[in-house]
Amino acid sequence: MAPNLEQAKALKHFLPSLSKELTVPGAFIRNEAERPKVAHDAFSNDVPIISFADIDSADSARRSAVFRNIVDALENWGIFQAIDHGVNPMLVSAMADLSTRFFQLPAEEKLRFEMTAGKRGGYVFSNHMFGEEIENWREFFTFFSYPVESRDSAMWPEQPKGWREVVEGYCEANMKLASRILEVLSETMGLEKGAFKEACLQMDQMVLVNFYPRCPQPELALGLRRHTDPGTITILLQDLVGGLQITRDGGRTWLTVKPIDGAFVINLGEHARCLSNGRFAAVEHQVVVNSNSSRLSIGAFQYPAQDALVYPLKLAKGEKPLIEKPVSFKEMYTKKMQCDVEVAKEREKP
Ligand code: OGA
Ligand code: NI
Repeated sequence: MAPNLEQAKALKHFLPSLSKELTVPGAFIRNEAERPKVAHDAFSNDVPIISFADIDSADSARRSAVFRNIVDALENWGIFQAIDHGVNPMLVSAMADLSTRFFQLPAEEKLRFEMTAGKRGGYVFSNHMFGEEIENWREFFTFFSYPVESRDSAMWPEQPKGWREVVEGYCEANMKLASRILEVLSETMGLEKGAFKEACLQMDQMVLVNFYPRCPQPELALGLRRHTDPGTITILLQDLVGGLQITRDGGRTWLTVKPIDGAFVINLGEHARCLSNGRFAAVEHQVVVNSNSSRLSIGAFQYPAQDALVYPLKLAKGEKPLIEKPVSFKEMYTKKMQCDVEVAKEREKP
């Protein structure tokens, strides 16, 4: 049985009620070195912004200019923002609106979808689920959208009304966009257009809708701790509040990605980094929160199939492989996640 509102509030780490307090409970307080160094709204102009308007242009010079921008960004940054990406703006804003409304639902309604051990999706509000000591200041809702057979309608809320239709359209659009970018990477490496996709066996997609409530002491906590994404490629929609930050020097300095209305933030994960033998980067990122407003982001995480073998798709003569022996993605993923938890524990050691 799902807890009622009173019971939910009694849960120590239940964020929707904590955001109204004046202080942050100890479970959310990070070690000094891990606390935010740059404000959520100190936006950087350095993260590349790329127009996709000409990505399929008949004019090959225009098309290759877009390809070059994508490749430069992913070699040097591992992340960029895509504008003019062709995804219907009405669909994007409907997805954002309906997602926001999910988090406004009463606690007991959200908790009906709570992801408990063994479930592959649902509503989560505590890091303890993943064995981490320090809590992130976020709630999220996650579900598998591809392969289509993995859609579990019991985990897709019926509320708010209209949600499912919008989600389906949104997921499909993100899938297409991700595939297009992977084609560009494949061609750039001198491979067949479908090489990255084939290395995935089948492209899976997990959608994660993050909600970061306002935080009374944002200088002490993180919305989401520092990490790289494990999968192939991530397409993220964020609202205009700001909070996503990247580091290129192991956490010494941070840049806040400037929100652009309707743009997608696109970054590669560890899988793509391995396939390219490190040519393309998987950027470390985190989320900081603020005391004025909540923030919403929607990530479409493209993954290979669990049993896809991970290995460099191409090596130059004499180039050393990052991975000596091919491993299944499942194995790679499990190792990375375990390792991340260990590193996080080490960083948060009193
Ligand atoms: C993630 C992530 C960034 C954000 O969910 O992996 O990095 O801005 N999210 O919410
Ligand atoms: Ni991430």
